[in-house]
Amino acid sequence: MKSFEEMTKEELLKEKESLEQAYRDYQKRGLSLNMARGKPANNQLDLANPMMDALTSESDFSCADGDVRNYGVLAGITEAREFFAEILQCDKDEVILGGSASLTLMYDTISRSYTHGVLGETPWCKQDKLKFLCPVPGYDRHFAITEHFGIEMINIPLTEDGPDMDMVEKYVNNDPAVKGIWCVPKYANPTGVTYSDETVKRFAALKPAAKDFRIFWDNAYCEHHLYPEQDQLLSIMDECKKNHTEDMVYIFASTSKMSMAGSGISAMALSKRNREDVLKQMGIQMISYDKVNQLRHIRFFKNVEGLRNHMKEHAKILKPKFDLLEKVFDEELKGCGAGQWTTPHGGYFITYTTMDGCAKRVIELCKEAGMVMTGAGAPFPYKKDEHDSTIRIAPSLPPIEELEIASHLFVVCVKLATVEKLIG
Ligand SMILES: Cc1ncc(COP(=O)(O)O)c(C=O)c1O
Repeated sequence: MKSFEEMTKEELLKEKESLEQAYRDYQKRGLSLNMARGKPANNQLDLANPMMDALTSESDFSCADGDVRNYGVLAGITEAREFFAEILQCDKDEVILGGSASLTLMYDTISRSYTHGVLGETPWCKQDKLKFLCPVPGYDRHFAITEHFGIEMINIPLTEDGPDMDMVEKYVNNDPAVKGIWCVPKYANPTGVTYSDETVKRFAALKPAAKDFRIFWDNAYCEHHLYPEQDQLLSIMDECKKNHTEDMVYIFASTSKMSMAGSGISAMALSKRNREDVLKQMGIQMISYDKVNQLRHIRFFKNVEGLRNHMKEHAKILKPKFDLLEKVFDEELKGCGAGQWTTPHGGYFITYTTMDGCAKRVIELCKEAGMVMTGAGAPFPYKKDEHDSTIRIAPSLPPIEELEIASHLFVVCVKLATVEKLIG
C-alpha cells in the first residue's frame, strides 16, 4: 500500500471518505469494547481458583513462623519471603511482604520518606525542592504518586535498552534535589522494553548527589513472559552489592497478575539497613499483613517452579491476544505511515506511536465508536505527551472475539486520524 504521506490531496480525500464510511459502520454497531487497563481476563483469574481450597484443616495454617491466623511476623512468613527472594534475585532476609498491592508499598515508601526521611536524612517534606526522574512513556500510577506528594517530575526518554543513562547520571550525580527514579525494568509498562545489562550496571554504579536518592525498581512483570525464550534482566541487588550501593535500591513486585489481581501478595526487597528502617516504621502501622493469604499462595504455587508453570498457562491465554493485534497491525498498517507499534516479549501492553499530533484524536474516535482506550497522555507525568503520539494498548481483558473487532476498529481510527492530520 502507498503510504499516506506519498498520497496527493485528492487521494487522501478519497481515502478519508472510505475510512469515514467504515467508521460510521462501526458506530452503528453500538459496540462496548475496552482496551484501557491491563487487567487479567476472567479465564486467567480462574487459573488460581484452586488456591481457595489450599487451607482447610487446622494443621494447614501452620508455617515456619507458627500459626498464620494469629498476630505477628511483621515482615511476612519465611516461606513467602524465600519465594519472592528467588523471583527478585536477592536474599530472603532482604524481603518484606506487603498486602495485595505493590502500589501500596511504593506509596508508603514515598510517604515515609516524606514524613520521616530516609535512613536518618531530613524528611523530604522539610527539604526545599524534590525531584523524581520518570522514564517515559511509563506507568501512570507511578506518576500519580509523585504528583500527589508535590514532587517535580522530569521526563527521561526510554530507549530500547532502558532509560537514557547519560541523562540519568547527569541528574542523579549532580542534583541533590533528585530523590528517586521510577523504573519498570522488565517488559516495561507500556513499551515492553527490558533494561540491558549495561543499563543495570550503570544504575548500580550511580553516585547520587543526594544521600536519600533511591531507585524504585518496580519489577511488576518479572515472570510475565509471552514466549519460551525470555528476556533476561540482571539482578540489580547483586550489581549494587558489587558497587556497595545496595542502600540505593528498593525493589517491588506482586502476584497481582500471577494469582488474583485484587487478592495477591506484594513484596519489597531492600538492603538490610533499609529494611530495618522500613520495618521500624511499618511496625507502628500494623502487626502484620495478611499471612493467611501469604501461606495460601505458597501452598498453591508450591515453589517458584510451580509459579513458572502457572505463568505458562497465563501465556497460553495472553499470547494469542498479542499475536492477533500484531497480525492485524502488520496486515493493515504496515507501510502506510500511520505509526509504529511495539512487539513485546512479555508484560501486558503494546505501545502504539502515531504520527505526531494524532493520539488524542485516535482515542476520541475510538471512544465515539464505543471503545475505551487508556487516556491520551496517561503514560507521561502530568498527563502531558508533548508529541501527542503515544497510545497504550492493553489487550488482556477482552475475549479474543471482541479483540478482533477492537483491533480492526483501532486501525480505522488510526488511519482516519492520520489522514485528517495530513489534509489539515
Ligand atoms: C508497572 C506496574 N507496577 C505496579 C502495578 C500494580 O501492581 P499491584 O497490583 O501490585 O499494585 C502495575 C499494574 O498494572 C504495573 O503495570
